[in-house]
Amino acid sequence: MVPGLIDCHTHLCFGGWRGDEFELRLQGASYQDIARDGGGIASTVAATRGASLGDLIRKAVLALNGMLELGVTTVECKSGYGLDEANELKQLEAYRQLNRVHEIDLVPTFLGAHIIPPEHRKNRERYIDLLCQVLIPKVAAQRLARFCDVFIEEGAYSLTEARQILSKAAEYGLGLKVHADQLSDGGGAGLAASLGAVSAEHLEYVSPEGMDALALAGTVAVSLPLASLYLQEPFIPARALMQRGVPVAVASDFNPGSAPSYHLPLAMTLACLSQGMTPQESLMGATTVAAKAVDEQSRIGSLLPGYQADLAIIDSPSLNHWLYHFQANACSAVLKRGRWVGGAGHL
Ligand code: NIG
Ligand code: FE
Repeated sequence: MVPGLIDCHTHLCFGGWRGDEFELRLQGASYQDIARDGGGIASTVAATRGASLGDLIRKAVLALNGMLELGVTTVECKSGYGLDEANELKQLEAYRQLNRVHEIDLVPTFLGAHIIPPEHRKNRERYIDLLCQVLIPKVAAQRLARFCDVFIEEGAYSLTEARQILSKAAEYGLGLKVHADQLSDGGGAGLAASLGAVSAEHLEYVSPEGMDALALAGTVAVSLPLASLYLQEPFIPARALMQRGVPVAVASDFNPGSAPSYHLPLAMTLACLSQGMTPQESLMGATTVAAKAVDEQSRIGSLLPGYQADLAIIDSPSLNHWLYHFQANACSAVLKRGRWVGGAGHL
């Protein structure tokens, strides 16, 4: 029996898929090449804008059902495929409704600063103003998100822009997260640390200075091994982070581009094989440390008196065996608040 798994980084709600980009990347195109040619995140933004609230909810329910069967009981979920007022609010409203109807608890994050939307490319300040003056205040007032996240990267947001957006979010009481140093070292880890962000996520290219800053600030590093695998990027230097005392979480990054699988136990096995983590560190990464990454470490993610009884029963003789044998689904039963809610049922 393990604590219910916590997937602390997903982009759960989106229109369409991007299977064709998978083949393009296998033929040598990079994630950034595809984005420059109008594919990538922008194509999912178009598909998400074209989807109704009902479409988004019905599609996300399928993923949530699959996650629950794997033993996942809490999921952080980001917006960021609407990138205008109506469509960002639509994504967050989908999360609000899903949270009411589904057994899995959702922790919504506002990622209006994912990329600059195509219609604002020539005037990025206008969109950043919309984020800071309209969307962040609205999202906070309507309690549609707990956190605000910014993608810092060439082709997304600069360090200066991210500081401006995240400072505004903090003013409105949102917790902070950063998509940092995924495709290059852009100083995202240092910014996350300096703003007291709860987590810095990705970190494939984090610098030693960035790691030191995270350690000092107590910021959680969220590793996303499926994204590294799919984009054929280096894996996060998990051991170097842990040696400095940075807690390392493990999450799926479920999204239609860089990580189209929500299989968190697969990410946990990869964290062992490719990030040098022990099975115990990997399990902690998807439970206790993941709880810290969504600022819920005193309520979920541990089997301790007083904690919410979110549990997964794994049909395996040991933790080592579970992550080494890797079955399609080794989870026999899932309990949410002490009540049976799912699992493969093959115990
Ligand atoms: O976490 N890095 C930016 N965002 C996502 C990918 C989103 C997409 O490709 O649609 C990520 O990898
Ligand atoms: Fe992501």
